[in-house]
Amino acid sequence: MPVRPTILVFDSGLGGLTVLREIVAARPDAHFVYVADDAFFPYGHHSEDEIVARVVPLVGELIARHAPDLVVIACNTASTLVMSHLRAAYGVPFVGTVPAIKPACAQSKTRRVSVLGTKGTVQREYTRALIRDFAQGCEVTLVGSPELASLAESALSGTAVSDDDIATELAPCFVGDASDAATRTDTVVLACTHYPLLLDRLEKLAPWPVRWIDPAPAIARRASDLLGPPREVPDAAGAEMIFTSNRPHGLGRTLTPFFGGRVPA
Ligand code: DGL
Repeated sequence: MPVRPTILVFDSGLGGLTVLREIVAARPDAHFVYVADDAFFPYGHHSEDEIVARVVPLVGELIARHAPDLVVIACNTASTLVMSHLRAAYGVPFVGTVPAIKPACAQSKTRRVSVLGTKGTVQREYTRALIRDFAQGCEVTLVGSPELASLAESALSGTAVSDDDIATELAPCFVGDASDAATRTDTVVLACTHYPLLLDRLEKLAPWPVRWIDPAPAIARRASDLLGPPREVPDAAGAEMIFTSNRPHGLGRTLTPFFGGRVPA
């Protein structure tokens, strides 16, 4: 009987669910373990050394406990720092999530692109190098948002989040003369996996329409390629949801769409 592959998806909180839902759609044959390191959330408020010291051993413990065939780090704030450490320490294949600067700049017509991420992600040398290598002559504005990931967590958990609070975080992404569609920002990279949770609100609150770049479908394709062709498995695959704080997840019905309808244990 074919063995079901296990995919472990890791984030600081619920943002990685936006990556998980794409991988679940691509790999219905897999068993999923979703880990939210909520005991250390938000990563955007921690130093680089703190994140490396937290994530590398924690992912090692998770690998030992769940024996995944693949680990997806569904967090830009962590991936822009820890991928080389993880690959050096553990033999499992890894897929990271980093700002989609290359496709964004390739698509922009006005040559004005903004990268919306956590304060940590936009400060990383990794992100600066992506701009140096792939901006292709575009003007790239880095926008470090202090609160948007937390606002997305609140909204998903059913707490009211005001338009004003979201609009304040978003405003610096919009560069140029609002009345000149030929030169103003036309593309915004969602460089934090939490932000697609708020996509409807971002579209509504944007001062003008832009293209939002979410890397999740590309990450799902990469993850699926690494696993090889889907396996024929007889019964429905399962899913687990783990919070490092050990809090029970009272988000049942809100979460199941991200798990492709599975009810996470
Ligand atoms: N979801 C994470 C990311 O993609 C970050 C949120 C946080 O600050 O913990 O960057």
